[in-house]
Amino acid sequence: MKEYKFETDAIRNQLERTQFQEHSTPMYLTSSFVFEDAEDMRASFTEEKERNIYSRFSNPNTSEFINKVVKMEGAEDGYAFATGMAAIFSTFAALLNSGDHIVSASSVFGSTHTLFTKYFPKWNIETSYFNINHPDEIESLIQPSTKILYAESPTNPGVDIIDLDLLGSIAKKHNLILIIDNCFATPYIQQPIKFGADLVVHSATKLMDGQGRVLGGVVVGESELIREIYLFSRNTGPALSPFNAWILSKSLETLAVRIEKHCENALKIAEFLEKHPKVSNVKYPFLVSHPQFSIAKKQMKLGGNIVAIEVKGGLEAGRKFLNAIKMCSLSANLGDTRTIVTHPASTTHSKLTSEEQFATGITPGLVRISVGLEDANDIINDLNQALKS
Ligand SMILES: Cc1ncc(COP(=O)(O)O)c(C=O)c1O
Repeated sequence: MKEYKFETDAIRNQLERTQFQEHSTPMYLTSSFVFEDAEDMRASFTEEKERNIYSRFSNPNTSEFINKVVKMEGAEDGYAFATGMAAIFSTFAALLNSGDHIVSASSVFGSTHTLFTKYFPKWNIETSYFNINHPDEIESLIQPSTKILYAESPTNPGVDIIDLDLLGSIAKKHNLILIIDNCFATPYIQQPIKFGADLVVHSATKLMDGQGRVLGGVVVGESELIREIYLFSRNTGPALSPFNAWILSKSLETLAVRIEKHCENALKIAEFLEKHPKVSNVKYPFLVSHPQFSIAKKQMKLGGNIVAIEVKGGLEAGRKFLNAIKMCSLSANLGDTRTIVTHPASTTHSKLTSEEQFATGITPGLVRISVGLEDANDIINDLNQALKS
């Protein structure tokens, strides 16, 4: 394929037209595909022929979506899933054996934390956590059985940043598979493979869809690893639906312009909140006050759309702030056109003990703002009146 810039590729990297010469890729809502004859069917199943067989394995819409993400992330290959969690679970399950060990940042998405602490131990797969702000701890946690090094950057919900270059060099030195959850940044802002990641996972539900419509997930990276993940998934069935793939592929056409505006709004809001008397702390990667500002500047093109704030007064003040919100949405999603405000300690992470909350970067007064595409001043006015109330 011809080499285009990110924005052009996101639009022009699409399936070949059918005999109808449609301009926009049609939906292939079919569970299976037909064969010419018995020989065609045999050769397709043994993979002597590369073609669609059954939509649990592959589908044209899913392939278009995967190809776009592969190109955006600078990867070799990929596979798409029904949700981000299906992508994360299947990636680990395909690559790990009983007795293998994971080293991960402790600040990870709540369900990923649950996989590491509740489910993987059932299969004799243990995880050691390092503090995202102390990557110097990583090497001391590596054991002969360690196979995967895992992190998110920026993290959910604390918006912490880790040096991807450093993770890449540690993974290389110890022959580990480095997996990065790039959901908060998107490939428009950050491409972890450039820094040495072997695999990149995404919840496509978030900024990739960007409009709060469908669930989806994707993993991209080295073809040998993707082959293992594909074979596991082809048999276990976490595949993305062709309808959702069609939506997500269309969404990627506008990823660059959406992310530019999300980030412009988020920076304005972060700067406003930093001066607010009712807010004790604001974390946004592109604020000079962010503890890892220089790392963020090194590896990210823009600061992303998530702003984490600490409302003065802890848990009660956080709940009061949420109750006073008028325009923004109280919802569990993020990366939508609509600004969403959440209070992790009393909602998404309320099942975690206070030690676990602390380890995943959640303090009682932490509020996560997923800045949307509304007018920045309208968002600011709503947050301001809620803080003052
Ligand atoms: C960083 C991160 N990873 C993974 C997920 C899981 O994605 P999904 O909800 O699509 O399963 C989320 C969801 O919020 C997330 O924020």
